[in-house]
Amino acid sequence: MGVPAHDAFPAKLWARMRARAVRADAITYTAYADPRGEPALRTQIASHLAVSRQMQCHPDQIIVTSGYRQGLMLALTALRPHGRKVWIEEPGYPLGRRALELTGAMLEPVPVDAEGLRVEDGIARAPDALLALVTPGQHAPLGVTLSPARRHALLDWAAESGAWIIEDDYLGELQLDGRAAPALAVGEGAERVIHIGSFSKTLSPALGLGFVVAPRLLAERLVEVAAVLAPAPNRTTQLAVTEFLADGHFLRHLRQMKALYAERRNLALAHISKFLSGSLTAGLGVIAPLPKSADDSVVADIARAHGLAPSALSAWYLRRTHAQRGLLLSVTNLRSENIDAACAKLASIVASH
Ligand SMILES: Cc1ncc(COP(=O)(O)O)c(C=O)c1O
Repeated sequence: MGVPAHDAFPAKLWARMRARAVRADAITYTAYADPRGEPALRTQIASHLAVSRQMQCHPDQIIVTSGYRQGLMLALTALRPHGRKVWIEEPGYPLGRRALELTGAMLEPVPVDAEGLRVEDGIARAPDALLALVTPGQHAPLGVTLSPARRHALLDWAAESGAWIIEDDYLGELQLDGRAAPALAVGEGAERVIHIGSFSKTLSPALGLGFVVAPRLLAERLVEVAAVLAPAPNRTTQLAVTEFLADGHFLRHLRQMKALYAERRNLALAHISKFLSGSLTAGLGVIAPLPKSADDSVVADIARAHGLAPSALSAWYLRRTHAQRGLLLSVTNLRSENIDAACAKLASIVASH
């Protein structure tokens, strides 16, 4: 799920930039680096966020990480949720949920509907939660954007109760229809939001690069956690990505990927709808709903044995008995040559199950 297109990664350009970065890095190779990450990269990320996510942040608020997961680790180490209630989205990203379980937090699943997180349900169940872990830009896995009313309700709750919001912005501006909504960490209420970004979807997970935008109140603590436990990764990759951003390649690549993924998504939807009715788009994928009686995990396992790689929707729920059943299908690496055969195979697996 959600791996960028293998055939569209600008490999030659990247190799050139990496080679230059290796040479630049060699000059200072015995020095300790800034644990927050290279200043030039933090400046580039801040400028990019201003354009793409309408965020006004200072490079000093940015901590470069090895991806979303390291950003989450920094946030959770700083906030110490052990024994405290935390809101998670239901359904929601399984690794985010597992990270909170590992910290010893008490998980409160908050349902997600067509407007995003049902904030009023969260307040009813756990008004005193320490934090909420959310994907407001494009919900994972349903793809919905948090509505303006819910957005305000969430920020108001955090301001009034002193809770923190961790914004998982894993897709950033990579939204296939229309313009991406501004980040939650924008404007009034943003001082309670820890924004976590990643280059895993926009460029490649193989780079192992992401960032945290620390709210002012937490910046010092987050930087200390980074300095002591998890300093910014590999300088060479950082320097190469700095050049990639500074020279405009990143914006160009994103524009191209949006167009490519939208084309592949439309192709997927057209084909899969012939076989599985009610299929709908979600983020960089398509969801094919299955009846409640179907075991989507079993269907996903059988499909894997046939060279297909759907993800079971029910696995994204904490409370499996309440789960919607369905298959999450990534579209980023689809090919027109084999889509019909793949859809027909999937439909026959579903039918026989
Ligand atoms: C909801 C969500 N958040 C974050 C990530 C990215 O994590 P990382 O940057 O650690 O690769 C993913 C990747 O699949 C994801 O689905």
